[in-house]
Amino acid sequence: MTIDSHTSLYGVIGNPLGHSLSPIMHNAAFSATCLNAVYLAFETEDVEGCLRGMRALHIKGMSVTIPHKSAVIPYLDEVDPLAKMIGAVNTIVNENGRLVGYNTDARGAAQALEEKVDLAGRNCLILGAGGAARAIGFMLREKGVTLAVANRSERRGKNLASVLESPFYPLNRLDEARPDLLIQTTSVGMYPRIDRSPAPEHILKPGMAVMDIIYNPVETELLRMARARGCVTIGGLSMFMRQGAEQFRLWTGMTPPVSVMTDAVEEALSRQA
Ligand code: ATR
Repeated sequence: MTIDSHTSLYGVIGNPLGHSLSPIMHNAAFSATCLNAVYLAFETEDVEGCLRGMRALHIKGMSVTIPHKSAVIPYLDEVDPLAKMIGAVNTIVNENGRLVGYNTDARGAAQALEEKVDLAGRNCLILGAGGAARAIGFMLREKGVTLAVANRSERRGKNLASVLESPFYPLNRLDEARPDLLIQTTSVGMYPRIDRSPAPEHILKPGMAVMDIIYNPVETELLRMARARGCVTIGGLSMFMRQGAEQFRLWTGMTPPVSVMTDAVEEALSRQA
């Protein structure tokens, strides 16, 4: 690809970004669709400065990740209703100078889950109470799933539980929730500390569905235990690819080349392992 004076710029803002696979995924998509565009990682703490720069430099689109998903909201011109309800934006589209915020995490998670699990009548326990937990919680509530929240910090956990009108459990009382769907949204088990699990093995029962939003490693310790105990498992790569594909669709209006994007990310992950 030739970078020239017509090249469009996209990127991701967050901190840390050292292990982000979004540049690999989106540059593969631009290249496969012959778009004259590049996607870069901007590791930063200056959210306001980034959004001012986005306007000044006509940056076409931005992914937003930890810890800025809520902090960007005051600097946008418009926030789509789903992202507003969740209180977190992971995608910004520059629509001719107007910065519009979206949340593709919720839709990405829904697609990844529904591909493998019938959600009707499920009793779901969400582990964690950060931005990803909020996005998934609101999405599941809209779908009528019975919810419970467990989190390390009681204050944050109870806060999300009350917004979702669901019970809260501390991490040492997870079995009391009796879930048949467990969704892991914390950073526990993420590369490089891959031998850790936020939930003990005994709560995993055959037939239960277990989703982990961590995609590095592709199979976390929690998912490895869940698979060994006969649970249906859903890895984080599926949600990551789907939220990224939705971003590409929002930015370009084109159908995302999902298999090229997935191959690029899997290849990068295998190099990292
Ligand atoms: P995101 O926006 O991706 O969800 P986040 O807002 O930083 O990220 O949330 C991270 C989640 O992981 C939180 O639920 C956090 O628990 P606390 O609210 O108690 O901080 C959870 N988490 C992070 N490290 C953890 C650990 N070592 N043990 C248990 N939970 C942890």
